[in-house]
Amino acid sequence: MLYKKFQCPDNIFEPKKLLNYYNSKLLEFGHSKALETYGDILSTVGDKNNHLFLGLNVLCPKLMKWINDCKMEYCKEVFKDKPFKLVFNRFWINSMNPNAEVKVHTHQPECIVLVFYLNASNNSGDLVLVDYPFSLGKELKLLNEYPEHTKIHIPVNTGDLVIHRGLTPHGVSAWKGSTPRISIIVQYGINWI
Ligand SMILES: [Fe+2]
Repeated sequence: MLYKKFQCPDNIFEPKKLLNYYNSKLLEFGHSKALETYGDILSTVGDKNNHLFLGLNVLCPKLMKWINDCKMEYCKEVFKDKPFKLVFNRFWINSMNPNAEVKVHTHQPECIVLVFYLNASNNSGDLVLVDYPFSLGKELKLLNEYPEHTKIHIPVNTGDLVIHRGLTPHGVSAWKGSTPRISIIVQYGINWI
Protein backbone atom coordinates (compact mmCIF):
# COMPACT_ATOMS: atom_id res chain seq x y z
CA MET A 1 0.00 0.00 0.00
CA LEU A 2 1.60 3.26 -1.12
CA TYR A 3 -0.70 5.48 0.90
CA LYS A 4 -3.92 5.59 2.87
CA LYS A 5 -6.37 8.48 3.13
CA PHE A 6 -8.61 9.02 6.16
CA GLN A 7 -11.44 11.52 6.60
CA CYS A 8 -11.66 13.19 9.99
CA PRO A 9 -15.10 13.05 11.71
CA ASP A 10 -16.63 16.56 11.86
CA ASN A 11 -17.23 16.43 15.61
CA ILE A 12 -13.52 16.27 16.51
CA PHE A 13 -12.18 18.78 13.98
CA GLU A 14 -12.22 22.51 14.74
CA PRO A 15 -10.66 24.07 11.64
CA LYS A 16 -11.05 27.72 12.72
CA LYS A 17 -9.30 27.16 16.04
CA LEU A 18 -6.44 25.24 14.42
CA LEU A 19 -6.09 27.70 11.53
CA ASN A 20 -5.89 30.65 13.94
CA TYR A 21 -3.24 28.92 15.98
CA TYR A 22 -1.10 27.64 13.12
CA ASN A 23 -1.40 30.86 11.08
CA SER A 24 0.05 32.72 14.06
CA LYS A 25 2.89 30.17 14.25
CA LEU A 26 3.54 30.57 10.51
CA LEU A 27 3.91 34.31 11.05
CA GLU A 28 6.32 33.70 13.92
CA PHE A 29 8.39 30.78 12.57
CA GLY A 30 7.58 30.54 8.84
CA HIS A 31 10.24 30.93 6.13
CA SER A 32 10.63 30.27 2.40
CA LYS A 33 13.93 28.39 2.53
CA ALA A 34 12.77 24.81 1.88
CA LEU A 35 14.37 23.32 -1.25
CA GLU A 36 11.18 21.51 -2.26
CA THR A 37 9.10 24.64 -2.63
CA TYR A 38 8.26 26.42 -5.88
CA GLY A 39 6.44 29.73 -5.84
CA ASP A 40 4.97 31.44 -2.81
CA ILE A 41 5.15 28.99 0.12
CA LEU A 42 5.65 29.63 3.79
CA SER A 43 6.84 26.71 5.93
CA THR A 44 8.05 26.11 9.48
CA VAL A 45 10.10 23.08 8.42
CA GLY A 46 13.28 22.76 10.50
CA ASP A 47 14.32 20.89 13.64
CA LYS A 48 14.04 23.91 15.91
CA ASN A 49 10.31 24.23 15.18
CA ASN A 50 9.35 20.62 16.04
CA HIS A 51 7.86 21.80 19.34
CA LEU A 52 4.90 23.26 17.39
CA PHE A 53 3.55 19.69 17.30
CA LEU A 54 2.69 19.98 21.01
CA GLY A 55 0.07 22.65 20.30
CA LEU A 56 -2.11 20.11 18.50
CA ASN A 57 -2.48 18.01 21.62
CA VAL A 58 -3.31 21.03 23.78
CA LEU A 59 -5.82 22.52 21.33
CA CYS A 60 -7.48 19.39 19.95
CA PRO A 61 -6.69 16.26 22.00
CA LYS A 62 -9.47 14.26 20.32
CA LEU A 63 -8.07 15.06 16.89
CA MET A 64 -4.61 14.09 18.10
CA LYS A 65 -5.93 10.75 19.33
CA TRP A 66 -7.69 10.15 16.01
CA ILE A 67 -4.50 10.89 14.07
CA ASN A 68 -2.60 8.46 16.30
CA ASP A 69 -5.25 5.76 15.77
CA CYS A 70 -5.04 6.25 11.98
CA LYS A 71 -1.24 6.04 12.18
CA MET A 72 -1.42 2.68 13.97
CA GLU A 73 -4.05 1.36 11.54
CA TYR A 74 -1.85 2.30 8.58
CA CYS A 75 1.28 0.75 10.14
CA LYS A 76 -0.47 -2.51 10.99
CA GLU A 77 -1.69 -2.83 7.40
CA VAL A 78 1.63 -1.93 5.84
CA PHE A 79 4.10 -3.62 8.19
CA LYS A 80 1.83 -6.62 8.90
CA ASP A 81 3.55 -8.90 11.44
CA LYS A 82 6.93 -7.18 11.30
CA PRO A 83 7.54 -5.65 14.77
CA PHE A 84 8.19 -1.90 14.68
CA LYS A 85 8.51 1.12 16.89
CA LEU A 86 7.75 4.64 15.68
CA VAL A 87 9.85 7.57 16.83
CA PHE A 88 8.59 11.13 16.32
CA ASN A 89 11.24 13.16 14.53
CA ARG A 90 9.74 16.13 12.65
CA PHE A 91 6.71 18.42 12.55
CA TRP A 92 6.02 21.41 10.36
CA ILE A 93 3.30 23.60 8.83
CA ASN A 94 3.07 24.40 5.11
CA SER A 95 1.08 27.28 3.65
CA MET A 96 0.84 27.38 -0.17
CA ASN A 97 -0.34 30.53 -1.88
CA PRO A 98 -2.01 30.47 -5.35
CA ASN A 99 0.07 28.80 -8.11
CA ALA A 100 2.64 27.45 -5.67
CA GLU A 101 3.82 23.85 -6.08
CA VAL A 102 6.01 21.39 -4.20
CA LYS A 103 8.77 19.73 -6.22
CA VAL A 104 9.23 15.97 -6.22
CA HIS A 105 11.22 14.83 -3.18
CA THR A 106 11.56 12.06 -0.60
CA HIS A 107 11.92 12.08 3.17
CA GLN A 108 15.06 10.31 4.38
CA PRO A 109 15.85 8.00 6.14
CA GLU A 110 12.99 5.49 6.20
CA CYS A 111 9.92 7.02 7.88
CA ILE A 112 6.18 7.50 7.60
CA VAL A 113 4.71 10.92 6.82
CA LEU A 114 1.29 12.07 8.05
CA VAL A 115 -0.24 15.07 6.29
CA PHE A 116 -3.39 16.61 7.79
CA TYR A 117 -5.15 19.31 5.75
CA LEU A 118 -6.47 22.37 7.57
CA ASN A 119 -7.50 24.07 4.33
CA ALA A 120 -7.55 22.28 0.98
CA SER A 121 -9.90 21.56 -1.88
CA ASN A 122 -9.93 18.61 -4.22
CA ASN A 123 -9.97 20.88 -7.27
CA SER A 124 -6.20 21.48 -7.13
CA GLY A 125 -3.14 21.08 -4.97
CA ASP A 126 -3.16 17.27 -5.21
CA LEU A 127 -0.61 15.28 -3.30
CA VAL A 128 1.06 13.30 -6.10
CA LEU A 129 3.10 10.13 -5.63
CA VAL A 130 5.59 9.34 -8.38
CA ASP A 131 6.64 5.84 -9.41
CA TYR A 132 9.90 6.81 -11.07
CA PRO A 133 13.58 6.43 -10.06
CA PHE A 134 14.60 9.24 -7.74
CA SER A 135 18.23 10.24 -7.14
CA LEU A 136 19.31 11.95 -3.95
CA GLY A 137 21.65 14.89 -4.39
CA LYS A 138 20.26 15.95 -7.77
CA GLU A 139 18.29 19.12 -8.32
CA LEU A 140 14.63 18.61 -7.46
CA LYS A 141 12.20 18.68 -10.39
CA LEU A 142 8.62 19.83 -10.77
CA LEU A 143 5.87 17.28 -11.27
CA ASN A 144 5.40 18.23 -14.93
CA GLU A 145 8.92 16.94 -15.66
CA TYR A 146 7.81 13.38 -14.82
CA PRO A 147 5.82 11.17 -17.23
CA GLU A 148 2.09 11.37 -16.50
CA HIS A 149 1.68 7.59 -16.35
CA THR A 150 4.11 7.42 -13.38
CA LYS A 151 1.93 9.65 -11.17
CA ILE A 152 -0.77 8.81 -8.65
CA HIS A 153 -2.88 11.90 -7.92
CA ILE A 154 -4.43 12.05 -4.45
CA PRO A 155 -7.05 14.84 -4.30
CA VAL A 156 -7.30 16.22 -0.77
CA ASN A 157 -9.91 18.21 1.10
CA THR A 158 -10.02 20.04 4.42
CA GLY A 159 -10.09 17.44 7.20
CA ASP A 160 -8.32 14.69 5.22
CA LEU A 161 -5.31 12.86 6.60
CA VAL A 162 -2.95 11.13 4.15
CA ILE A 163 -0.26 8.77 5.41
CA HIS A 164 2.54 7.57 3.11
CA ARG A 165 6.04 6.15 3.24
CA GLY A 166 8.69 8.88 3.29
CA LEU A 167 10.84 7.11 0.71
CA THR A 168 8.08 7.27 -1.93
CA PRO A 169 8.87 10.22 -4.25
CA HIS A 170 6.08 12.81 -4.07
CA GLY A 171 5.17 16.43 -4.78
CA VAL A 172 2.16 18.75 -4.78
CA SER A 173 0.50 20.01 -7.96
CA ALA A 174 -0.21 23.72 -8.43
CA TRP A 175 -2.64 25.18 -5.92
CA LYS A 176 -5.42 27.16 -7.57
CA GLY A 177 -7.45 28.13 -4.50
CA SER A 178 -8.01 31.75 -3.47
CA THR A 179 -6.93 31.26 0.16
CA PRO A 180 -3.73 29.48 1.27
CA ARG A 181 -3.68 25.68 1.22
CA ILE A 182 -2.55 24.82 4.74
CA SER A 183 -1.35 21.47 5.99
CA ILE A 184 0.44 20.16 9.05
CA ILE A 185 2.94 17.35 8.64
CA VAL A 186 4.19 14.85 11.22
CA GLN A 187 7.04 12.48 10.50
CA TYR A 188 7.93 9.31 12.42
CA GLY A 189 11.11 7.31 11.99
CA ILE A 190 10.74 3.52 11.98
CA ASN A 191 12.79 1.32 14.31
CA TRP A 192 12.54 -2.36 13.39
CA ILE A 193 12.60 -4.44 16.58
FE1 LIG B 1 7.03 15.58 1.52
